[in-house]
Amino acid sequence: MPLVNRLASSVSSNKTQKFPSATAIFGRLHAQATNHNADKSAYPVHRSYCTEQPKQADQQIVLNGVSYMKDAWTNVSPSISSKIGRNLHLQPNHPLEIIKRKIIDHFHGSYRSRFGGCIFASVDNLSPVVSVEQNFDSLLVSPDHVSRSKIDNYYVKHDTVLRSHTSAHQRDLLRSGWNSFLVTGDVYRRDEIDKTHYPVFHQMEGVRVFDSFDLFSDMQDSSELSDFKIFEPSPTDRQPDKQEQYTVEATQFVEFQLKHTLISLVNNLFDDDVETRWVDTYFPFTHPSWELEVKINDEWVEMLGCGVMEQGILKKAGATDHIGWAFGLGLERFAMKLFGIPDIRLFWSDDVRFTSQFASGDSYKKFKPFSKYPPSYKDISFWIDNEFQGNDLFELARSVAGDSIEQMSLVDQFVHPKTQRTSHCYRITYRAMDRTMTDEEVNSLQNRIRQLVVDELNVELR
Ligand code: DAH
Repeated sequence: MPLVNRLASSVSSNKTQKFPSATAIFGRLHAQATNHNADKSAYPVHRSYCTEQPKQADQQIVLNGVSYMKDAWTNVSPSISSKIGRNLHLQPNHPLEIIKRKIIDHFHGSYRSRFGGCIFASVDNLSPVVSVEQNFDSLLVSPDHVSRSKIDNYYVKHDTVLRSHTSAHQRDLLRSGWNSFLVTGDVYRRDEIDKTHYPVFHQMEGVRVFDSFDLFSDMQDSSELSDFKIFEPSPTDRQPDKQEQYTVEATQFVEFQLKHTLISLVNNLFDDDVETRWVDTYFPFTHPSWELEVKINDEWVEMLGCGVMEQGILKKAGATDHIGWAFGLGLERFAMKLFGIPDIRLFWSDDVRFTSQFASGDSYKKFKPFSKYPPSYKDISFWIDNEFQGNDLFELARSVAGDSIEQMSLVDQFVHPKTQRTSHCYRITYRAMDRTMTDEEVNSLQNRIRQLVVDELNVELR
């Protein structure tokens, strides 16, 4: 068996198995785009939309001390902008900082140059305010791709967005000369409300690119070295397991390297105590692409996305003679599993009953939940119009009740047989993490939400 095949098959791969993936926004939205063309109108992503004149041209929004002129795309709310600069991943002994540190230590300990230096640079202070070009175009996300939607992102203005992923920095860091790096930061997505979704969370991106010497220099028999090339003499068709320009052997070396790197990382974080599997997926910026799932309490949980970087990105970065891999992982997801943290809102808590539990910086001391306060449930039902989007409702509810809402879910919907109008009923679970909420307080929040949905979302209460 050729060396490259031995390498690739020695990394466990479940290519034949397909599993639904919960969080990969690009894969998920890719599937939506291919399956539900009829829904396209729900995503106002046509660039012509940006030419609309701002309604109040004099309005400014200030983020990180920089002021931006609002326009028709601006949808960053005060509750979101107040999170910019919190930098939970930089706070000593915050669980997100502990996980970040563990991962960086693992990379620094495991990957060293011939002279003993760390191969991976680590960057964790880049502003989350990025250009639309960085967040999407630099990663080859097509101009009409649904992932650019205002429904799913926080736009500062038409050409500026709060990064929705740390991948936004790949091209620029490569261009500035780094071949291997980790980027950590806060990322922003409009999403549902429940114990695992919060509009701000933290990701770490890893990138490593190789020239032909870096890639093949580990070969035991150096005479084989000259047999291997990164590039096809002339590009082939794109195939499920490789891009046009790269050879099969280079792609398989990179796949092996990537999978080996990530399995070692996960084994290190979970103390070798964990079953893993690879699932094929789609991202616009990698091909082939995978998700790594980990079995936790008998359930497969997607932990990260990764793949062989699209050569187009390397070209944009000036690394034309290279091939590389990239991955992106969510720090909250790892921290929730490793520390046993049950609710994503806790990461934002200043409650000493939370923060003190991590003060020693001990890895993975299991979190001891403090007593749960009783929930209070309230339903809200209304007739919607064609423009209605659940994410607008979630945003509005958060702006009124902040972290007092634990969950919000659509519990009933139907179309009226005569009027053909659609009704939605959402159930809001109110539960603060640090106290029992009074009926009066919950009713007042609920009334405020009822009023605002009518004023701002053009619905009719039932
Ligand atoms: N940016 C992706 C997301 O947020 C995660 C990701 C997937 C990052 C694949 C990567 C990658 O670098 O290669 O869903």
